[in-house]
Amino acid sequence: MLVLGSDHAGFPLKEAIKEHLDEQGVEYIDVGCYSPERYDYAISAQKACDKVVSGEADLAVLCCGTGVGISMAANKVKGIRACCCSDYFSAKYTRLHNDANCLCMGDRVIGAGLACELVDVFINTEFEGGRHAKRVDQIMAIENGEKLY
Ligand code: RB5
Repeated sequence: MLVLGSDHAGFPLKEAIKEHLDEQGVEYIDVGCYSPERYDYAISAQKACDKVVSGEADLAVLCCGTGVGISMAANKVKGIRACCCSDYFSAKYTRLHNDANCLCMGDRVIGAGLACELVDVFINTEFEGGRHAKRVDQIMAIENGEKLY
């Protein structure tokens, strides 16, 4: 299951992604916002990421104006590894190498066509594990207040 969220600036991009997912029959939960009216990105980030952490969703896709603010907020939720992407390679490798569970994009940065491609590769790429697992564990250790050095 996928969970989608946005602020007002990312709302049009989220809606375009929903249309794309609907065409493919991919299920998702939309935590809002539900209109272009002003809505703070941290709220949507937390709502969506809580669903990933609870297991209700496997991956989150978040949109704001730049993708940056909402990714910063998402990364504050324990258990979330969010990546702000505007290119195909990063969206693919953040799944393969970082086991990212949250893709963030900016409506003011990329078009809907590219955003949908990034969503597709993000949700269809599995974490490679192996040598990358240790590094992801280190990221989570930092989150848990452990010293790596
Ligand atoms: C909203 O104007 C804008 O600041 C927000 O969508 C985002 O770009 C922040 O990082």
